[in-house]
Amino acid sequence: MSKAAQSGAPAPEYLPRHLAIIMDGNGRWAQQRGLPRSAGHAAGAAVFKKIARYCSRIGIRYLTVYAFSTENWTRPPEEVGALITLFKEYLEESLRDFRDDDIKVRFIGDTTRFPKSLQELIAETWELCENRTGMVLNIAMNYGGRAEIVRAARALAEKAKAGLLSPGEIDEAAFAGELYTAGQPDPDLILRPSGEERLSNFLLWQSAYAEFMPLDVLWPDFTEKDLDEALAAFAHRSRRFGGV
Ligand code: IPE
Ligand code: IPE
Ligand code: MG
Repeated sequence: MSKAAQSGAPAPEYLPRHLAIIMDGNGRWAQQRGLPRSAGHAAGAAVFKKIARYCSRIGIRYLTVYAFSTENWTRPPEEVGALITLFKEYLEESLRDFRDDDIKVRFIGDTTRFPKSLQELIAETWELCENRTGMVLNIAMNYGGRAEIVRAARALAEKAKAGLLSPGEIDEAAFAGELYTAGQPDPDLILRPSGEERLSNFLLWQSAYAEFMPLDVLWPDFTEKDLDEALAAFAHRSRRFGGV
């Protein structure tokens, strides 16, 4: 029996090549239980680990998860601190226990704003995964779609100034080549658990023709079955890309 057949997910040819998830609803999950928001983030981190492995097992090639936005710094310092601790714990665990794993972890966003200790774990993870050939897992940390676009514009301007590029050569491919996701396919499907129906500054350029799917479940309650159902619904969507 194939791996996909063992799961309830559609066969690999019907899966999105690139799946993106806005992992939202941790705070509400905690609030419903009378717990601090940090408990919601801890529960959400456990779900992330489970779902990332499941995606790799069923044959998703690229998974991008929104873990921390450029706007999330406006949250209370205790909450930001709890999230940073969780990021560190996750990376320490994967560096310690999953050294033979095949998932290629990448980071998108400006990670230089995080504490040095976290930046070191990011660098170590990046290096460890360099030659892996399995699913690419992009973790968006201090990521903002607008900041990413501005960064790409600046990189192109620098190249033009240095005489490496003429303004007329700036096209969509050149622009995409300066994004964090350079060389990767655009997301086919963006899931947003928690019921909110907005992108919140996620993959603004790359989402041009992504299928968007808000889901009525909070991220810490999200299961493999919820993912199977979303993937089945995606397989039935008609994508036209502006054609007929
Ligand atoms: C998502 O859950 C996690 C991050 C944004 C870091 P939230 O913390 O936004 O949860 P809600 O939306 O308040 O329920
Ligand atoms: C988006 O969720 C960011 C992440 C899930 C990391 P938010 O909870 O920050 O978004 P808004 O504030 O509801 O738009
Ligand atoms: Mg939220």
